[in-house]
Amino acid sequence: MNQQRRHVLIRSAATAAAAALGLPGLSARAGGEERAAAGIDIHIELHAIQDSVAIREGAQTRVWRYQGKLLRGDASALDAWAGNYLGPIIRVRRGQRVRIDLINGLPESTIIHWHGLHVSDDMDGHPRHAIKPGERYVYEFTVVNRAGSYWFHPHPHGRTGKQIHFGLAGLFLVSDDEEAGLDLPTGPHDLPLVIQDRTFDDNNQFVYLSESVAGAASQDPEQRGMMDHGMMGGNMGGMMGGDGRRGGMGGMGGMGGMGGMGGMGGMGGMGGMGQMMARMMGVFGEQILVNGRPGASLEVERRPYRLRLLNASNARMYKLAWHDQSPLTVIGTDGGLLAASLQRDYVMLAPAERIDLWVDFGRWTAGAELTLQSLAFEGGMTMGGMMGGMMGGMMGGMMGGTALPDGAPFPVLKLRVEGGTRSSAAPPQRLSRLQRLQPRVAVNFNHPKVFNLTMGMMVWGINGQGFDMLGASPLETVKLGTHEVWEFRNDAATGMMGMTMPHSMHVHGLQFRVIGRSVAGKFSRQHVTVKAGFVDEGWKDTVLVMPGERVRILLGFADYPGLFPYHCHMLEHEDSGLMRNYLVKE
Ligand code: C2O
Ligand code: CU
Repeated sequence: MNQQRRHVLIRSAATAAAAALGLPGLSARAGGEERAAAGIDIHIELHAIQDSVAIREGAQTRVWRYQGKLLRGDASALDAWAGNYLGPIIRVRRGQRVRIDLINGLPESTIIHWHGLHVSDDMDGHPRHAIKPGERYVYEFTVVNRAGSYWFHPHPHGRTGKQIHFGLAGLFLVSDDEEAGLDLPTGPHDLPLVIQDRTFDDNNQFVYLSESVAGAASQDPEQRGMMDHGMMGGNMGGMMGGDGRRGGMGGMGGMGGMGGMGGMGGMGGMGGMGQMMARMMGVFGEQILVNGRPGASLEVERRPYRLRLLNASNARMYKLAWHDQSPLTVIGTDGGLLAASLQRDYVMLAPAERIDLWVDFGRWTAGAELTLQSLAFEGGMTMGGMMGGMMGGMMGGMMGGTALPDGAPFPVLKLRVEGGTRSSAAPPQRLSRLQRLQPRVAVNFNHPKVFNLTMGMMVWGINGQGFDMLGASPLETVKLGTHEVWEFRNDAATGMMGMTMPHSMHVHGLQFRVIGRSVAGKFSRQHVTVKAGFVDEGWKDTVLVMPGERVRILLGFADYPGLFPYHCHMLEHEDSGLMRNYLVKE
């Protein structure tokens, strides 16, 4: 069947199925257009475009980015971040009604997800709402979230990793009266720090698998996904010296061959095998960028600051600490301020997580050079069982192809404390009236729903199932107005190689609470290198689930029926199947 025709069939089948489920169809995007501007506080056009920006000395880097235009509302609502691929920063007050028009100037389909915002399903940026080049999607919603650091990014199925990597991502900062009543640093002392990793080629271009920013649109995503998986199965089968089915392990000769290939894949940068693994395990860049700049440094005044950290990397997590081991003061997480500030020696920041820090640079002397660094940790890829040693070496070769392996230590940001008088302060004693939630409110308090993070034949899944655009199983069906306890388990027998990786689990459309963690004994060696850095105290929309861990969360399904994704935010995992829907029924 020719691709064009297949694509049309998929779209129309999806539309019909959506109608059958009682979900808003694809026509939703037209609906907003006729609505009157009345009642809208902020109206922004976001053009997803191809562009070039100067990131490093020499050639400009070709990027994809959002270009914002403020059509209505206060000028402070849109901060363009000139000369950057990141952004813009959108700033709104809780209760404001916003309209945002996404205009797709890319050579392929896209859609925006408002990460962390509580909005209806047709406003959430589900992959089924992706629009084609030249099309427009009109979002309109009232911001009901607490003050906090939310963000937005593309979410087309199978291409999220690529599109974010090429530059598409921005912050969505919400303020409210409670926050305004605190004496937190504002204006230039309220600093967003968006952390990413990238590899550049000799010509300063981003390297993402075999994809090129300049390249024409690649194939139909569904088709491509099938090809990738087919290819993986085939290659793995060949490597195993068997037919690729589980258990069809080859002898030692085959293993030797694999090791060799692994090494080559690694050394060759992105050879076939290395690339195949990266497409599955995650793309790790060799350079760390903060706010779109490699080797970033910053001058700060001798006074308190608020630092809003966002990990917008594809797969890398960070173990963040000050160079001199002075403690970090955490004031907020994904869903806004904590009840009171907390001290941590380091914080873990997994892909898509946010942490708000309060820091008094008056604590250091004028002229002091500080480094925010990522400390070494264990717990990247972990091999279990018999295969551990052999496969570990091979994967190490392939994953280690990057100059900066997962878990390696490196500086993230250099800061220099300016001269001048010191104006010190302590963080506010009480930050927020954080709603106390009793896990008992959950309808299944005694029987958490179990979501195993699994890997089959080189394909990620949840309870063994990959993404299904319009599907949600009975387990994934919840009742509007109820609470549930879910447990993400990263200790399942994960397929033929017993491989376990950390996952950064995100649930769309709501904020949840982390109510428990446990870890299987054989993983405690890795776990101990990160566990003091979890901040589980506040509202979260993304949670790190380390190898061997079981993490319990309490979720409430309020206001909006519909179909919402939940998935790993390590984007290559998401794009290759570690994503499912949950369905909220009235
Ligand atoms: Cu930030 Cu479904 O993603
Ligand atoms: Cu993952």
